[in-house]
Amino acid sequence: MEGKLLHLKNNALSLILDAESATELEELEIQFLGRNGELTQLMKTLPKLPAEEKPVMGRLFNDTKNIIEDAINQRKQTIGKKRTTHHTLDVTEPGRKPPLGHLHLVTQAIQEISEIFHHIGFTRVRYPEIEWDWYAFTALNFPENHPARDDWETFFMKGSSHPQKGAMLLTPHTSSGQIREMERLKPPIRMLNIAKCYRRQSDVSHTPMFHQFEGLVIDKGISIAHLKGVLDYFFKSYLGEKRSSRIRPYHFEFTEPSFEVDVSCGVCLGKGCKLCKEGWLEIGGAGMVHPNVLRSGSIDPAKYSGFAFGWGVERVLMMKEGIKIDDLRTLYSNDLDFLKQF
Ligand code: DAH
Repeated sequence: MEGKLLHLKNNALSLILDAESATELEELEIQFLGRNGELTQLMKTLPKLPAEEKPVMGRLFNDTKNIIEDAINQRKQTIGKKRTTHHTLDVTEPGRKPPLGHLHLVTQAIQEISEIFHHIGFTRVRYPEIEWDWYAFTALNFPENHPARDDWETFFMKGSSHPQKGAMLLTPHTSSGQIREMERLKPPIRMLNIAKCYRRQSDVSHTPMFHQFEGLVIDKGISIAHLKGVLDYFFKSYLGEKRSSRIRPYHFEFTEPSFEVDVSCGVCLGKGCKLCKEGWLEIGGAGMVHPNVLRSGSIDPAKYSGFAFGWGVERVLMMKEGIKIDDLRTLYSNDLDFLKQF
């Protein structure tokens, strides 16, 4: 009898602890303590017990009944409390923060480049990205219909054409800003033109829209030595002290002499390796501003000379240590998983 009672009590307590609602508890109360409940049934056998056992068992029955009743009441309270916490506003709970973005990788690069040139007195300017042919080509010493223009794979706008300045186009390079700046200022000029450029191109290393930056310095007595000094200063500031630059003879319509600019490879630092082959990576163009270009900007080439350079923001960005982008088009694909890395 005692064993049965103990078993019943343990069974009741574990079911009560598992109960999740007031209804479930009411059902358990009926199951154990109701008129036909398990404990009530067992109590009915009490009168049949030997007289000396009756008082002890009677007390045990009562204790068990009280324990079960207490357990039910306690569980009822716990469930009730749980429900009220749901409805209470916990003012100490940390708020849900909206996701925080950051500047695009290319915007970060533009800011860094602007700052580096700002330190040596260059002023950042902005000029139209929808521009007349004159600024992008003719004034830069490209004769009309000259095949050299083809290298710039330009988008021309249909319709509107200026009587003197020619067709309307999307700027294929930032060099168009050179003439705009000469129209705005008399020398000394130290211009940094960073802008979007457009060309009919799309592959792993080209996008139809990209960014270039153009430096232009015009003053009395400006020489190639000044150009070389500025190039070295920029690459060391942007890519690190260990990097250096070199200039190679080349041809551009708007500069004479013209150069291609190389920067030492970040992996072998100019010694030559599997990545760069000869130690140098080609980055862009530069040169001494052509006298015809100065004339287009109403500056006297007998009095003033200048240098210019220009290349892609994305291009120098890729040469930074730790930045590896297999396909340049990913930069503009709005892929958050990619962009969040930077
Ligand atoms: N505008 C040229 C290009 O888009 C780059 C360039 C070459 C800019 C020589 C210059 C320069 O200022 O002097 O390929």
